[in-house]
Amino acid sequence: MLKFEVVHGPLLDGSADLLAVAVSGRPNSRDPVLGPLAKTLGVDLGTLADEELFEGKADQQLALSGRDRLPARRILLVGIDPTTPAYLRARTFAVAAVRHALALNLRRVALAWSDLWGLETAAWIEAAVVGAETGAYRFIEYLTEDRRPKNGVTSVVLCTPPGRRPPPPARVDEALARAGALAEALQLARDLVNEPPNVLTPAELARRAQATAKRVGLKIEVWDGPEIAKRGLHLLCAVQRGAENPARFIRIDYRPPKPSRRRVVLVGKGLTFDSGGLCLKPPKSMQDMKCDMSGGALVLATMLACALRKPKVEVIALIPCTENMPGGGAMRTGDVVRSYSGKTVEILNTDAEGRLILADALAYALDLKPSVLIDHATLTGACMVALGPNAAGLFSNDDAEAGRLLRAAQFTGEQYWRLPLAEDLKELLRSEVADLRNVGEQYGGAITAALFLRNFVGSVPWIHVDIAGPAWAEKATSYAPRGGTGFGIPTLLRFLES
Ligand code: BES
Ligand code: MN
Ligand code: ZN
Repeated sequence: MLKFEVVHGPLLDGSADLLAVAVSGRPNSRDPVLGPLAKTLGVDLGTLADEELFEGKADQQLALSGRDRLPARRILLVGIDPTTPAYLRARTFAVAAVRHALALNLRRVALAWSDLWGLETAAWIEAAVVGAETGAYRFIEYLTEDRRPKNGVTSVVLCTPPGRRPPPPARVDEALARAGALAEALQLARDLVNEPPNVLTPAELARRAQATAKRVGLKIEVWDGPEIAKRGLHLLCAVQRGAENPARFIRIDYRPPKPSRRRVVLVGKGLTFDSGGLCLKPPKSMQDMKCDMSGGALVLATMLACALRKPKVEVIALIPCTENMPGGGAMRTGDVVRSYSGKTVEILNTDAEGRLILADALAYALDLKPSVLIDHATLTGACMVALGPNAAGLFSNDDAEAGRLLRAAQFTGEQYWRLPLAEDLKELLRSEVADLRNVGEQYGGAITAALFLRNFVGSVPWIHVDIAGPAWAEKATSYAPRGGTGFGIPTLLRFLES
C-alpha cells in the first residue's frame, strides 16, 4: 500500500517527482494552481496546451518538464470531465496520475486540485486514496525474475486547493485511516479474484476469509461439505458434486459498537471456477471464469471494511463456495433437487449454477431475520448484453432500499442500472415435474435469473445485484485495473454507512 499525506496548497515548493494537476477545459492563468505554476515555469499554459491540442477533456493529458524551476521534475495536466460525479472525478484523476508515474518509474506523486468540486474532506481523501491505490495496483504474485517490477510509486501527497481553509489534522488523519480501510478492502477483493482457480479453491477462499476475520476481530464460521449437506443446502451440494474439491459455506458477523435494530445480510456468489458443468462452456467463455467468485470477494472485502470503519448497522455475510465442474458425480440435466427452502428445482442447464447456490444461501439468510437482504453475483452474461461490460444490473422488491443503494452509487459514480422483475416472464420458470426450473428462455436472461432468486427471499426487502460485467475488466479502465476490479465495494460501504 502507498503512503499518503495531505498538505495545504499545490506543491510548488514540495519534493515530488511528479506534480499532477486536475484540469477541466483550457488551462486558465486565473486558476489558483495553474496560475502560479505557469508563472514559476515562465510559460503560458493556455498557449502551450493549444499547441499540444490539450483541451482539458477526459482521457487527455499534457506532460511538461519542471525545467529546473520546480522541485517536481515533471508536471502532468490531467483532463477531467466536469459532468461525472465529483467522487469519480477525484478517483479518476488519482488513477491517471499514479499510472503516469508508474510508467515513468517515479516514486513520489503530488496531486493538486484547484477546487474540490463540492466534495467534503473525507470523501475527497477517500476518492483520491482509492484512485491512487487503483492506479498503483498490480497482481504480481506469479511473476518471476525480469517480469517482477523493480520499483514503483511509494508515496502520494494530496494538495488541498490554495483558496480553501486546510482541514484540521485530526480530521485528515481519520479520513486517511478510513480511506485506507476501503483501499485495503478493494485490494483484498482484487487479489482474490485475480488468484488462479487452482490456488483459490473453495477451501482456500474459506481459509483466506478466516485469516482476514481473525486479523480484524470478526466472528467467522465455516461449514465443510458434510456440514452443508446436514444443514440441507442441497442445491449447493448438487453444484459441488461434479468437482473433486469440496464446497465451503462461510458466515461472517459484524456487530456495531452500539446495538442496532437494522440487520443487513449480504450474500455473495463464491463460485471459484465455472466450467459450466456438463453444459460445458466453450473455451473462450471459460477463460476468465475464475472471476465467478467476485460476489463472494466483494462481500468478504466489505466485511473487512466494516471491521475497520465500524458502521452503525449489524452486518452478516454469507458466501456459498464451490466449483462447477463436469466430473462423474456432476448434476445432470433433468435432475430434481430439493432446496434448503423446501422448494424443488429441475436443473435443465448446469451452467445456470449461480442461482442454485444463491437460492440456498438466500433461503438460509431468512432464518437470520434480515432487515434487508442483498446479494451480489456474477450471474448472467445476459446482464452484460443488456448493460454493457461496466454496469451492474440491480433488481429489487423494495423501492426504498433499492433507492438507497442507487443513491450511494450516484455518489461513488459506480454504474448501477435498475432492471425490472417482469411478472410476465415468471411462467418461463415453470416446470412440469418440480416447483421451478433453473433456466428461462433465450431472451431476458438477467430477469429470469432474478425472478428465480425471488422465489427464495420470501417477503423480506431484497436487492439482487448482477455484477457479471463490472466485476472483471478485460482491459484497465480510467477508474479500475485490469482483471478483478473491486466493483461495488465503495457503493455498498456507503450504503451501510448511510
Ligand atoms: N458465471 C456465469 C455468468 C457470467 C458470464 C459471469 C460472463 C461473468 C461473465 C453464470 O454461471 C452462467 O453461466 N450463466 C449463464 C446462464 C444461462 C445458462 C441461463 C449465462 O449467462 O450464459
Ligand atoms: Mn455458469
Ligand atoms: Zn457462474
